[in-house]
Amino acid sequence: MSNIYSAIKISDHVYWVGAIDWTIRDFHGYTTPHGSTYNAYLVMADKITLIDTVKAPFKDEMVSRIKSVVDPAQIKYIISNHSEMDHSGCLPELIDTIKPEKVFASAVGVRTLQELFHDSHEIIPLKDGEGLSLGNMELTFMETRMIHWPDSMFTYLVQDQVLFSQDAFGMHLGSLERFADEIPAAQLEYEAATYYANIVLPYSPIVLRALQKVTAAGWKIKVIAPDHGPIWRKDLGKIIELYQQWATQKPTAKAVIVYATMWHSTEKMAGAIAEALAGEGIKVRLLSMNETHRSEVVYEVLNAGALIVGSSTLNNNILPAMADVMTYLKGLKPANLIGASFGSYGWSGESVRHLEDMLKEMKVSIAAESVAVKHVPDAVALIKCQELGKAIAAKLKERISFHS
Ligand code: FEO
Repeated sequence: MSNIYSAIKISDHVYWVGAIDWTIRDFHGYTTPHGSTYNAYLVMADKITLIDTVKAPFKDEMVSRIKSVVDPAQIKYIISNHSEMDHSGCLPELIDTIKPEKVFASAVGVRTLQELFHDSHEIIPLKDGEGLSLGNMELTFMETRMIHWPDSMFTYLVQDQVLFSQDAFGMHLGSLERFADEIPAAQLEYEAATYYANIVLPYSPIVLRALQKVTAAGWKIKVIAPDHGPIWRKDLGKIIELYQQWATQKPTAKAVIVYATMWHSTEKMAGAIAEALAGEGIKVRLLSMNETHRSEVVYEVLNAGALIVGSSTLNNNILPAMADVMTYLKGLKPANLIGASFGSYGWSGESVRHLEDMLKEMKVSIAAESVAVKHVPDAVALIKCQELGKAIAAKLKERISFHS
């Protein structure tokens, strides 16, 4: 195979040798319209070390990039920071091909890799806080369990001050730009926030503890090298501050209205609620699940203070598009939200109760009485919707002044 791929130097002794997946559009329910990258890193120490690998079909691309720096057979150590298969898929075949002296992972990572591949490769467990000499350089490891798998860990290259952060600080953005500072700031923040909301959000309390743990370790960090998307080499405080903010989920003056409609009655109700909220100075995002992907909803909820959900009643239940997004949202555990439900019906009208029960299961605090309308809303029904919007706005303002 001709060597069409090149490594990219990211610090004095580290090269990016990952792969670009231009075509992936789905990560178990999270839509990825701009593809992704699987980042692997080559540390050119006395003991040449590869940190993480790539998804199985991208092995040749990774090996090609390694060859642009060194013969892959010269790699002595492989570190697996995270065993999910987008980073370990080609690991067994790579071990067979290049025969490194040693392969390392966290203790949970060792077990996970065995459970994934059922092979006889020896993987050496690393302890939290343990160091590993590469001859002229040194790595240190930090367990980051549940960010976002139990096996996850960070690796820190002391000499170059590079933090290999696996999925943390990553984003699904396939591009030839390798560094975050080469990408427009607004796009960067959007992609990083979407990634956080769809992957990291349920583990927010653990993220806050991990940020404290990194600070306590006293690691000076010049480069953050995640397993997806661009590498951070400038203004690192910004992305760390954003992680702190997203993980804290402080209530804001923003309401997200998510609904699905059959004959536009629930849609009219959503419009009335939105206008009332906006009239009270609340920022509103109105998302019809007939047209919106669930990933976008979670992105909007990430920095919201209220979640208001609506559905027509269908067969004594809610519409399938709402069941989809409510299930997805529940799993992602957004915190510190208030909410309410609304919807239209023809004869039985169970949708609002089902939605309210779902909000309660998500620990969303119900802050206004639900509104159910038979068939098409009239002027009186629309006033009730406006009152729901005003009640949510008043409660949001109260919560924001309490938290400020
Ligand atoms: Fe990118 Fe959790 O794997």
